[in-house]
Amino acid sequence: MNVRKVKRSRCNTRIVFVIDSQKLPLDLEGREGEIAVRYEGRETVIYAVPGLGNDSSNLAVRRVAATAMRAVNGLKRKTVALDIGPLPESLHAAAFEGAVLGTYVFDTFLRVKPGRVSGIDIVGSKLSTSAVEEIVTGCEGVFLARNLVNGNAGDITPEALARKARSIGRAGGMRVTVLTEAEIRRQGLGLLAAVGQGSPFPPRLILMEYSGAGKRDQHTAIVGKGITFDSGGQNLKPSGSIETMRCDMAGAAAVLGVMHVLATLRPAVNVIGVCAAAHNAVDGTAYFPGDVYRAYDGTTVEICNTDAEGRLVLADAVSYVRDRYKPGCIIDLATLTGGILTALGDVVAGLFSNDDDLAHALFNAGEQSGERLWRFPLYKEYSDALKGDRGDLRNISKFKRGYASSITGAAFVGHFAGEIPWAHLDIAGTAYNEGEIRGEIPKMGTGFGVRLLLEHLISRRPRRFV
Ligand code: BES
Ligand code: ZN
Ligand code: ZN
Repeated sequence: MNVRKVKRSRCNTRIVFVIDSQKLPLDLEGREGEIAVRYEGRETVIYAVPGLGNDSSNLAVRRVAATAMRAVNGLKRKTVALDIGPLPESLHAAAFEGAVLGTYVFDTFLRVKPGRVSGIDIVGSKLSTSAVEEIVTGCEGVFLARNLVNGNAGDITPEALARKARSIGRAGGMRVTVLTEAEIRRQGLGLLAAVGQGSPFPPRLILMEYSGAGKRDQHTAIVGKGITFDSGGQNLKPSGSIETMRCDMAGAAAVLGVMHVLATLRPAVNVIGVCAAAHNAVDGTAYFPGDVYRAYDGTTVEICNTDAEGRLVLADAVSYVRDRYKPGCIIDLATLTGGILTALGDVVAGLFSNDDDLAHALFNAGEQSGERLWRFPLYKEYSDALKGDRGDLRNISKFKRGYASSITGAAFVGHFAGEIPWAHLDIAGTAYNEGEIRGEIPKMGTGFGVRLLLEHLISRRPRRFV
């Protein structure tokens, strides 16, 4: 993406924001989210209405900016002037971010490529050069996550995620450790090994250390569910549920997206990025429903359903990172349950936490970034329902089928986080868009979590090398 901040642009395609009802072009109603393309002399102007008056929200601005940019993509223009002058200064960042997010297209497999804007002239902006750079880099992280989700499950294997992590780590001076299947077994991560054992693409535990704040601060661990395809295992998913299951590594993809941004911007924060990567296959060697497997921390787990695999790989990843890296807190991201779609649809992700401060901070980062969260309770009754008979824990609750499935899934992971501040984000609804484009949210992989975590981890913190 080629971005310039200019006073005036020579570009003959312009996006103009309108918040003043007096300045509404003819036959625009002034509805929130409305855009209109007008040919004015030699110019093509795309009017974008985030709402009238000075109280438009950052969400509305981000959304309409992306919609306008999509229209420019559709017109096959390569460059565009983005006139954000009419907006209040507090909305400039969201407007620019929405515009950049709107340039995204996934065309890897298309023979006829659609248009894609590659240059933006920002006009009338109050954004600093470093703010512009941060936004563009943040969006690169989002695109990286989207591309990983949108790629074929046959290509985006656990080892492919490890390769990506190594290349990000090299660029960012991070130490990257990848446990192979043999090491996973040798070190006792029996749940991750079990989930991955039915696949010709063996599991990996990927750990990336970024220490931009030196020894001063504790690390925040961000842990992503990286099921590169979730067939359900022996509890095989039916048609209608299985087709999109390459999205089941969206948590890991978001972690890699964030690590890419840290590698580029080098902010003064300490983060450990972890991907628990496996392919949940159905095969003669796949793990068996009813069998008991041992977790890294010694807990034994009865597998009541091989399709509840995400909590298993996360359990081992969370206990391993706790034990080996002693982070100050852990945030996991996972396409964990279909239940979260029932509760929140595909617009908000589930938030679960044992720590109110962490939960509040994440909630606020959600409001700010537009990647919103809503918190659920983790009362004792939910974890009680996970007590096992043949093993210490069962991987699905004793509740009636489907009851509180997102909460009990979260409680299972929480067991392995123990006392340390931990939050779990269930992104099964928000990570993949099966419906229509909605502003900055494209079809298929959305990259959900990258901007949210960046907001939480680095906003308002000093840059290390500026
Ligand atoms: N990967 C799925 C959850 C999912 C559903 C992600 C829809 C994206 C869209 C997860 O591994 C799963 O299968 N969960 C089961 C758990 C159940 C067996 C307790 C579910 O939610 O139905
Ligand atoms: Zn599953
Ligand atoms: Zn899954």
